[in-house]
Amino acid sequence: MNDFDKTTEESRSRWEANADCWDARMGDHSNHFHRNIIRPHTEELLDIRAGDLVLDIACGTGNFSERLVENGAEVVAFDYSEKMISHAKRRRRAHSNKIEFHVCDATKSEDLMTLKKDRPFDKAVANMAVMDISDIEPLFKAVFELLKPDGVFVFSLQHPCFVRPDGRYLSPSIYEGEAIRGQPVLQYYYHRPLQEILRLAFVNGFVVDGFFEVPDDDNEYPAAAIIRLRKN
Ligand SMILES: C[S@@+](CC[C@H](N)C(=O)[O-])C[C@H]1O[C@@H](n2cnc3c(N)ncnc32)[C@H](O)[C@@H]1O
Repeated sequence: MNDFDKTTEESRSRWEANADCWDARMGDHSNHFHRNIIRPHTEELLDIRAGDLVLDIACGTGNFSERLVENGAEVVAFDYSEKMISHAKRRRRAHSNKIEFHVCDATKSEDLMTLKKDRPFDKAVANMAVMDISDIEPLFKAVFELLKPDGVFVFSLQHPCFVRPDGRYLSPSIYEGEAIRGQPVLQYYYHRPLQEILRLAFVNGFVVDGFFEVPDDDNEYPAAAIIRLRKN
């Protein structure tokens, strides 16, 4: 559909360059935005039960992976940045019996399928990462295959209707920006209209059964969307 995937390697190298900064700012307990704006509705949609096997997609330094474990889950978490994963392993050392961390690229179907365990995943989550991933088609397909019947995939992202390049909504596009003020290099963001993201959900067999639009500092302006897909 487009050639965003040609930028995957450059995007990965920018996340590598920003990983120490991300780690320093997110620390052991994440930041206000993730903790207080994104987490409550994400946790409501995920509804973690004791023993759930959860795939944490593009986990960064593992803040949300640790939260999942605190809520009773066993977690397989991955990111394509080696530095992010080494920070994650160090910071989440106390939970190493409940979280497996892997370096894996969400744009590569075969690599995603190597994350398969001896039982299907109950749930999958991508916390504020879908707009950072160059090609989400392989991910949506693989997650559908890795989930148990009726399993759910919850993802949050910058709300594409409100956080987007100037003057464009319907055309997918790449733009540069900062996740953390003062990070060493600008990262790529991949803008897609909601109809494109949901098309990938529907063609793979998911239905949408949960949706929140959450404001940050302006109550009338949703900074993020949080969507629950269910394997039909
Ligand atoms: C905004 S951070 C979110 C990290 C984490 N989910 C959290 O909530 O703290 C986005 C993450 O997506 C990762 N990422 C981007 N593209 C990826 C890809 N193709 N495969 C795996 N990880 C990717 C980046 O390395 C970065 O760690």
